[in-house]
Amino acid sequence: MSTSSAMDSNCLTLTRFVLAEQKKVPYATGELTQLLNSIQTAVKVISSAVRRAGITQLFGTVGETNVQGEEVKKLDVLANELFINMLASSYTVGLLISEENETVIEIETDKKGKYIVAFDPLDGSSNIDCLVSIGSIFAVMKKEDNSIPSLKDALLSGNRVVAAGYALYGSATMLVISMGNGVNGFMLDPSIGEFILTDKDMTIPNKGNIYAINEGYTHLWDDAIREYVQTKKDPSKGKPYNARYVGSMVADIHRTIKYGGIFIYPATSASPKGKLRLLYECVPMAYLITQAGGLAYDGHIPILDIKAESLHQRTPAFLGSKEDVQEILAIIKKHKK
Ligand code: AHM
Ligand code: MG
Repeated sequence: MSTSSAMDSNCLTLTRFVLAEQKKVPYATGELTQLLNSIQTAVKVISSAVRRAGITQLFGTVGETNVQGEEVKKLDVLANELFINMLASSYTVGLLISEENETVIEIETDKKGKYIVAFDPLDGSSNIDCLVSIGSIFAVMKKEDNSIPSLKDALLSGNRVVAAGYALYGSATMLVISMGNGVNGFMLDPSIGEFILTDKDMTIPNKGNIYAINEGYTHLWDDAIREYVQTKKDPSKGKPYNARYVGSMVADIHRTIKYGGIFIYPATSASPKGKLRLLYECVPMAYLITQAGGLAYDGHIPILDIKAESLHQRTPAFLGSKEDVQEILAIIKKHKK
């Protein structure tokens, strides 16, 4: 398959790509294709809402009314409803886990399917109102025996992921996805409303020259993180790295996959488990980074090996180029001695 543009009469859309991937799997039922199509629809509507947010007054807090006197739905509330409604009506999922919902969402019996989807419908909350890039993140999991999940199955860990992706609402809207066979990126062409394959077989450079971490928390870091970041800025230890930190995980991870380097959200003395959530932020990103040839650790073990114990569990996260992640893991190990 080659990348293509929308003006190409044979252009490679995301739907077409997913169908072709499905055909490679003998006995595939088409359910994953249906599921990913429902996410694609949610993302298209969210993208359109994000672009029009100021005009239609989607910014601000829930409870405000717009010029028509209707109650305004905040963008993140709207995004959550879209993910839930589209997935629940795809006949492919049994359980949904959302950052916005305290408990697991169980799908009605007659619409139930075998998949579990964990998602953050609109990540980067602090960036919404100032027009900085934001994103949606999701992971699709299923039980080993392919049976319909019940509530007790909600805490499947990263090794049960069959697909994951993110949508980046940046200077363009991009959907990056993996179904376990590499990572591919699709740009939304607003003129035809389709995602077109633009970034085929995305691979992360083995080593980068960018570090991304919120340095405002330096006083809360442990010695290992402090030593690593100091090393990256010290000209006597090699060419100093560039610092980049958007504060939207999707944008920071997208840059890390494209340019290489490292994204860190460590444990701090204020948040001993870090801030980011395991199931719908770190697991999907860890799956994508790993599929792109990078590493994703919690500081000690691969994020995909962490056993989930609660829905909104947090984990420290070190994601990026192989050599960069290995370097910080070695420093952490040295400090543990
Ligand atoms: P959110 O789910 O409230 O949007 O928070 C998650 C975001 C991530 O996108 C980003 O990496 C991180 O929080 C930034 O946090 P901080 O402002 O502490 O650096
Ligand atoms: Mg979030």
